[in-house]
Amino acid sequence: MTSDAPTVRIALSRRGYPGLEDAPLPDGAELVLPDEGASPDAAGLRDLAAGCDALVVSTPDQVGAEFFDANPQIKVVALVAVGFDNVDLDAARERGVVVTHTPGVLADATADVAFALILMARRLLVPALDTTRAGEWGAFDPRSFLGLQVAGATLGIVGYGDIGSAVGRRAAGFGMTVVQHSRSPKPADGIAEAVSLDELLERSDVVSLNVPKTPETADLIGARELDLIGPEGTLVSTARGGVVDEDALLAALREGRLHSAGLDVFATEPLRDPADPLLHEPRLVCLPHLGSASLETRTAMTHMALRNIAAVLAGRTAPNVVPPLRG
Ligand code: GLV
Repeated sequence: MTSDAPTVRIALSRRGYPGLEDAPLPDGAELVLPDEGASPDAAGLRDLAAGCDALVVSTPDQVGAEFFDANPQIKVVALVAVGFDNVDLDAARERGVVVTHTPGVLADATADVAFALILMARRLLVPALDTTRAGEWGAFDPRSFLGLQVAGATLGIVGYGDIGSAVGRRAAGFGMTVVQHSRSPKPADGIAEAVSLDELLERSDVVSLNVPKTPETADLIGARELDLIGPEGTLVSTARGGVVDEDALLAALREGRLHSAGLDVFATEPLRDPADPLLHEPRLVCLPHLGSASLETRTAMTHMALRNIAAVLAGRTAPNVVPPLRG
């Protein structure tokens, strides 16, 4: 590229995206970052992106029609995330804006967290840790922290894409039987048997949710589905808030209709009301939506987002355009 090439301006919703220092930027790109401590709310994002060609966003950043109307020069919105329910895809499409995401690269990191939730919930590790930290480790009692075993149990994976199948590989290594349910047929992989959702819920001791949030997955798991999993069952979700009905989940845990649960995602995030009942349910493990938060993965995500931007700004097809929503 020659030195008189026009500068491209890329707005980033947040400071501190790992890997930005050696990211594959288009030649001559100028990065536009929010002020330290500035909140990337709707107005903040709109103003930040003024005069920019591209916008980099994360899961909590809401990008709707008003953003696009205020920034008609934006050509691409690149999510540093695989989920894309925070961007109004119809509004983007109507205005010819490309929306990209970061599939694949975060599968292992997110599957690790799903598996951590399974072990933490099923083996009651959080109350055990709290007890130890409080200096309350009492005399040995064979009934203390008596969890349920993972080896030999059946894991049902709802949503057998990149993340779901990474959870399946881990489960096979832990000696679990694996079944899966996906909206589109998946090739046999020798790990998971494909079954209907109800059969999965009935057969599984542990259920892992790994579906995207779409109109068809909203409230996918409510009281009826939790009862199919049953009183010795564990539910974990690293998917999206709103796929599980949280009130129904709390009721099932309180009434002993479900053994335990682990959530990395919530209907309302961040979860920071100390009085929130979700934070006080002894058999519910809550994590702050950190599925992809390993240095290696977050770095790869930043690089992928910037490669997508570079492609669009160079007039090429971006490698990771979000797929059309199936209704
Ligand atoms: C995180 O939730 C993501 O969608 O990448």
